[in-house]
Amino acid sequence: MLETIAGAQVARTPAQVRAWTEKMRVAGKRIALVPTMGALHAGHMTLVAAARHHADVVIVTVFVNPLQFGPKEDFAAYPRPFDKDCALCAQAGVELIYAPTPQTMYPPGFQSHVEVEALTQGLCGAARPTHFRGVTTVVLKLLNIAMADVALFGEKDYQQLQALKRMALDLDHPTQVLGVAIAREPDGLAMSSRNVYLTAAERQAALAIVRSLRAAQAAVRAGERDAAQLAAAMAAAMTAAGGRVDYVAIVDPQSLQPVATVAQPARAIVATWFGRARLLDNADLLP
Ligand code: PAJ
Repeated sequence: MLETIAGAQVARTPAQVRAWTEKMRVAGKRIALVPTMGALHAGHMTLVAAARHHADVVIVTVFVNPLQFGPKEDFAAYPRPFDKDCALCAQAGVELIYAPTPQTMYPPGFQSHVEVEALTQGLCGAARPTHFRGVTTVVLKLLNIAMADVALFGEKDYQQLQALKRMALDLDHPTQVLGVAIAREPDGLAMSSRNVYLTAAERQAALAIVRSLRAAQAAVRAGERDAAQLAAAMAAAMTAAGGRVDYVAIVDPQSLQPVATVAQPARAIVATWFGRARLLDNADLLP
């Protein structure tokens, strides 16, 4: 029996998800999967809306994945407003929420992992060496449980999206991995569950992230091609606003390898701390 929480149907085990998806498939329904760690906001809900264009029924997974947090990261503090998440999903017409416990996801003796190599070495992988292994492992498990037609991920976590696309391709997973554009607040700040960590002043200062990305796009339109120059200007702008820059990178959009010159499509990707929030954002420089 599935639980109903705040109007949403909630599965707690892989067997419950499989029984449900089996019924959907027999009824001829296309299935979309939207993996999340909960603390849902309008950015997550754009993934749900996009999922509707690709499928008849939508499964949202809510699981704060311990495997992708480092020992000094915010696993314990990560927000978990589960009832509110269920209400938001119910409102959006999500057909099923999968919310397993850590014990269900990682029973005693668990020891299998999946790793996407080169794509996860740099950028966020440099500061968070075990992070992507945790992401790819949990997402492969979720893909295997749901066997959905499509799974949707945000471009906000651009390196994650590229790693997951690669994983599905490399491991012959039948689920199609799709990216969805970054959802922003009206003032431009990329929506994130971690924005709740920001004070009002930090949130205002954090707008330097999107401003620096837009300035880089404008500089490229005006003819600047030197990636080092562009990156230095972005870092300086974020630092001046009080941010602690983790990295600014200008990379090939598929391989994520740094480019020296913006001559072909390139993506600017940044990670910067404002207060105790490490914020990610990115944008096409030459689309
Ligand atoms: P989480 O941070 O909850 O994000 C869930 C999904 O929502 C991800 O695909 C993320 O890129 C997307 N998302 C978040 N903010 C967004 C925004 N402003 N615009 C567009 N998409 C946005 O990413 C994770 O969880 C986890 O690593 C997960 C993939 C669930 C594995 O545990």
